[in-house]
Amino acid sequence: MAADQPILVLDFGAQYAQLIARRIRERRVLSELVPHDLTAAELAARNPAGIVLSGGPASVNEPDAPGLDPAIFDLGVPVLGICYGMQAMAQALGGEVGRTGTGEFGKTELELQPDAVLFRGIPPAHSCWMSHNDSVTRLPDGFRATASTPGAPVAAMEHAERRLHAVQFHPEVVHTPQGTDMLERFAYDVCGQDGSWTPQRVIDEQVERIRAQVGDEKVLCALSGGVDSAVAALLVHRAVGDQLTCVFVDHGLLREGEAEQVVETFGGHYRVPLVHVQAQERFLGLLAGVTDPEAKRKIIGETFIRVFEEESRRLEGVRFLVQGTLYSDVIESGSKTAAKIKSHHNVGGLPDDMDLELCEPLRLLFKDEVRQVGIELGMPERMVWRQPFPGPGLAIRIIGDVTEERLRILRHADAVLQEEIRAADWYRRLWQSFAVLPAVKSVGVMGDARTYDYPIVIRAVTSEDAMTADWARLPYDLLERISTRIINEVPGVNRVALDISSKPPGTIEWE
Ligand code: XMP
Repeated sequence: MAADQPILVLDFGAQYAQLIARRIRERRVLSELVPHDLTAAELAARNPAGIVLSGGPASVNEPDAPGLDPAIFDLGVPVLGICYGMQAMAQALGGEVGRTGTGEFGKTELELQPDAVLFRGIPPAHSCWMSHNDSVTRLPDGFRATASTPGAPVAAMEHAERRLHAVQFHPEVVHTPQGTDMLERFAYDVCGQDGSWTPQRVIDEQVERIRAQVGDEKVLCALSGGVDSAVAALLVHRAVGDQLTCVFVDHGLLREGEAEQVVETFGGHYRVPLVHVQAQERFLGLLAGVTDPEAKRKIIGETFIRVFEEESRRLEGVRFLVQGTLYSDVIESGSKTAAKIKSHHNVGGLPDDMDLELCEPLRLLFKDEVRQVGIELGMPERMVWRQPFPGPGLAIRIIGDVTEERLRILRHADAVLQEEIRAADWYRRLWQSFAVLPAVKSVGVMGDARTYDYPIVIRAVTSEDAMTADWARLPYDLLERISTRIINEVPGVNRVALDISSKPPGTIEWE
C-alpha cells in the first residue's frame, strides 16, 4: 500500500485528536486530521488507507451530538473508533450505548484479549487512560469484545473480517503505555501500511509537488533565519533550483551571528540565489524614540513588508511566494477566537496587490517533522534546532527605546546566555531562552567604583505550544555562571535578574 495514502482522523472535537495523527506519524505513516462531517464519498475521494474516529466531549445519545456518515463503514476501508468514536461506531452499526452509571476517568486497569488484532504482542494486563461516562452496552452484530475494565465490560471491540476496531480508552496519550503500539497495529496490520513515510519520502513527494505547481515560473522566498522558512526554501530549491530567489531582510534586530549564518548557509553552502538586504539603518531610524510595544511591532511589520516589496519588484516575472506554513497553522486557522494580546506579525507577510500564488511545502508537517526534513536536507544543527524567535526580534526584548547601544548590550548578553545554556545541555529542553534588557538603570559597585548601568533579565521557559508556559527551573550553578559572565563581560550591565513568571499571567516575551 502506498505511503502517501493517509490514515484520516475524523475530528469529533477531542482535545487529543491532533495527538492521534501525531502518534501515527511517529510510526512513519502519513495521517491527517479532517472534519467529522465529511461524507463517505468525500472521504473515499481522498483515498485513505484507514479512518480513525476520534474522541469528543459529546454523548452519542444527545440530540445534536456530532454525527458521521454511516456509509463510511461500507467503504471497505479499515476504521478505528476511539472513545466517542467507538460509541459512534457502535451506534451506527446497530449496537447500543448507554450510561452504566460508572464513568471512568484517569488511569484504569485493563484486561486485553491477546488475540485481538490491535493487542498482538501486548501484555494482557495493561493500564490505560479513560475519560468517559457512556459505554457500549450491546455489541453490534458480528463484533466481539476484546478488552474490559472494572467499569466497562466492553472496553474494546472488533469485527476483524470487516476490519472495524474500536477502543473505549485513549491509546494516543502517554498514560496508555503501549498505546502507540496499538495504533501501529492498526496502521500496519489492519491498514497494511509499512512505515515508509520517512523524511526522505516527504522530500521526494514535496519536490514532485512543487515542480508540478511551479512549472518553469520564478519563485520568491523570504528568509527569517527560522527553521520553517529555511526548510521551505531548501525544499523549493531542491525542486526548481535557481528559479528560486531568497530575500533576507536584515532588520538589525537578530541575535549575534544569526544574519551571518543565514547568508553563509544559503548564499554560501547551498548556493541559493540570495538577496541580502541590509536594512538595519532604515529600521533603527524608524524605531528611534518609539517605546510603545505595539507601535514597535507595527513599524517593524510594515517596514519589513515595504522593503521586501521593493526588493521583489526588482526581480521581474515572479509568480510564486514560498511560505513556511505548518500543519498546526492549517488545523488551527479559522478556529482562532482568542483575544488579541499582541499583534504577531509574520515575517514574510505580503501586501495583497502583489498577486503572488502561495507555495507551502510544509503544510502537511508538524514542527518536529519539519526539523527531521531539515536534518535530511543537511541543514546545520544550529538552524534545525533553533528555538522560536519573534519577527520583531530584539526590539521587543528591549523595554523602552531601541538604540544601537542597547542592541549591542542585549546581543552580547544574549550570546553569553545562549553559550552557557548550550554548554549545560539545556538548549533543547527549553522552549525559549533569552535575555531581556529593560531600559532602567540601577546602582552597583565594580572594583571600587560606583556603576549606574542596565540590568539583564534571564527569561527561560518550557512550553508545548507557547499558549501556556512555565519558567524553567535552571540549576543555580548555571544561573550563577550566566550572571557572573554577563556582568563581567558585557560593558553597560551591572545586574542580572531572573524572570520567574509563568504564562499566563505573564507572556513569554516582555513586549
Ligand atoms: P508571547 O510573548 O505572546 O509569545 O507569550 C508567544 C510566542 O510567540 C512568539 N512571538 C512572536 N512571533 N512575531 C512572531 O513571529 C511576533 O511578533 C511575536 N511575538 C511573540 C514568542 O517568541 C513566543 O514564542
